[in-house]
Amino acid sequence: MWVSIRMLVILALADFCRAMPESYDTIVVGLGSAGVTAATILAKAGKRVLGLEAMDRIGGRVKTVPFGDGFIEEGAEWIHGTENSRVYQMAIDNNIPTLDQELEFEVYRSDGTLGNNSLISELVAFCHDQAFTATDKPLSLGEFITGKFMEHIKIKYPELQSNQTFIKEFLNFMNLIVNNYEGSNDWTDVSAKSAFKELGGHQHMSWHRYGYKTFFELLLNTYNNGPGWPNLDIKLNSPVSKIIWPRDSTGNVIVQCEGGQTYTARHVIVTVSLGVLKERHEKMFEPALPIEKTTAIDKMSIGVMDKVILKFEKPWWDRKLLFFSFLWRLEDIANVSKEDYWITRILGASNPMGSDNTLTLWTSGDVGKMVETLPDEIVIRKTMELLRKFMGKKYSNIPEPTGMLRSKWYSNPYTRGSYTYDNLDTPNYPHAREALGAPLLDSSGTPRVLFAGEATNPIHFSTVAGASDTGYREAMRLLPSSKM
Ligand SMILES: Cc1cc2nc3c(=O)[nH]c(=O)nc-3n(C[C@H](O)[C@H](O)[C@H](O)COP(=O)(O)OP(=O)(O)OC[C@H]3O[C@@H](n4cnc5c(N)ncnc54)[C@H](O)[C@@H]3O)c2cc1C
Ligand SMILES: *[C@@H]1O[C@H](CO)[C@@H](O)[C@H](O)[C@H]1NC(C)=O
Ligand SMILES: *[C@@H]1O[C@H](CO)[C@@H](O)[C@H](O)[C@H]1NC(C)=O
Ligand SMILES: *[C@@H]1O[C@H](CO)[C@@H](O)[C@H](O)[C@H]1NC(C)=O
Repeated sequence: MWVSIRMLVILALADFCRAMPESYDTIVVGLGSAGVTAATILAKAGKRVLGLEAMDRIGGRVKTVPFGDGFIEEGAEWIHGTENSRVYQMAIDNNIPTLDQELEFEVYRSDGTLGNNSLISELVAFCHDQAFTATDKPLSLGEFITGKFMEHIKIKYPELQSNQTFIKEFLNFMNLIVNNYEGSNDWTDVSAKSAFKELGGHQHMSWHRYGYKTFFELLLNTYNNGPGWPNLDIKLNSPVSKIIWPRDSTGNVIVQCEGGQTYTARHVIVTVSLGVLKERHEKMFEPALPIEKTTAIDKMSIGVMDKVILKFEKPWWDRKLLFFSFLWRLEDIANVSKEDYWITRILGASNPMGSDNTLTLWTSGDVGKMVETLPDEIVIRKTMELLRKFMGKKYSNIPEPTGMLRSKWYSNPYTRGSYTYDNLDTPNYPHAREALGAPLLDSSGTPRVLFAGEATNPIHFSTVAGASDTGYREAMRLLPSSKM
């Protein structure tokens, strides 16, 4: 009797599976900060969730890699702000000690001399603050900061006012800092008017030897060999090629992968980057995306910021400082060959907190894209020349590196950039991020295809915490009555 009932159940289940292959409540496309946040909230709430990730790993633009005597971050490195940060809170709740890496830097000049640290630090801090002052001026960030900077030195350092060399060198340096923050090619491409807001508290909290990957292990309940979430299926190496969504209220959303696998669900949350949407949206959605969304995809910008990480037998630099910044003298820039121009666009070298014998060099914008295409051997040789040029006077006999790793966020077909910034068109399309994040509804008004990801966060875009908030936002859209 029991045996036959069990058989019946198995047969019925088998039938059911054949009829409705792999149907889920929600499919999450992309398992970065936004996707993993959304998927885990829904799974914990009892929904059957499938996460489809194109790459062979979870994390997206967070990529912790073992290197040197510990871990380095090819993507996101810091928790920017601790107040109301889902990321910081996750670390605290799980007793993971994060470390505050003060943004203290030492300025080196291209002739190997040390810059005037206190002066440059004060000026950088001043310019940085200007980037967060609300303005309605239709200016680029470059024009806006330059104007404020000139007013500032007039009052505070009148002796510098007439020194065109100093002013040009500093503004060139400041432009690079902005490009590293924004991923932009030039600070004249960035809008001074922006809704972006920093979270309060320390801006450079580091996961150090735990690695940023820990955030994902905690979300997924796999930290310390945790069992994960039973309702959550994850498929890596599964690039989604098509999302067919119903306008009527009955049908399911059909998600097709490049390998031909097809999955269905009531809802789909798309978390791919703006860069991926720019490249793929026309082929990816059926029916096509509405005009408000395609306009947002068109008008918004995703920038590039890349890291070159060198490994040495042992550290030869001062591990106490966060950043060794490189301030070019105009005459030295003029002397760099056209081919090597890119080395003048490297902001400096920083100390990763998760690996003591590695140094990270920072590049951005068009130069960052170009460096991605250079052979390893050239990148190593030229970046070593650069380190010796700037730091060789203070640190004699800088040794050869024993290894190199670098990011390629633009070449990567599943990111096509590092993070979004507000370009000069932003004031003309002030609601573009909201439009990008708006769900596609069926005829009954039910959200069927939802959108999350860094770019859809109107005020905290370009960060891991901001991306996570959008995953939470979209999960809550599907769990309206819960209080998670
Ligand atoms: C070099 C660098 C440094 C950074 N530094 C910081 C920092 O210090 N602090 C900070 O807060 N933020 C930083 N950021 C930004 C931060 O990493 C991102 O804002 C955030 O990780 C984005 O998360 P997301 O979920 O929106 O997108 P992603 O992490 O890009 O996740 C989207 C996922 O979708 C997948 N995908 C794409 N296409 C498909 C497809 N067709 N099918 C299936 N899956 C697909 C991708 O592989 C990816 O895993 C940095 C970023 C970079 C690149
Ligand atoms: C640094 O710059 C300030 C302001 O111009 C100046 O007062 C100070 O003497 C400088 N310090 C050094 C070491 O040159
Ligand atoms: C102007 O600034 C440059 C670069 O900082 C410096 O080398 C030079 O001595 C300054 N000139 C004067 C006249 O102060
Ligand atoms: C410029 O470069 C040439 C050759 O690369 C070198 O000989 C010369 O000393 C350099 N000049 C300066 C000012 O660095």
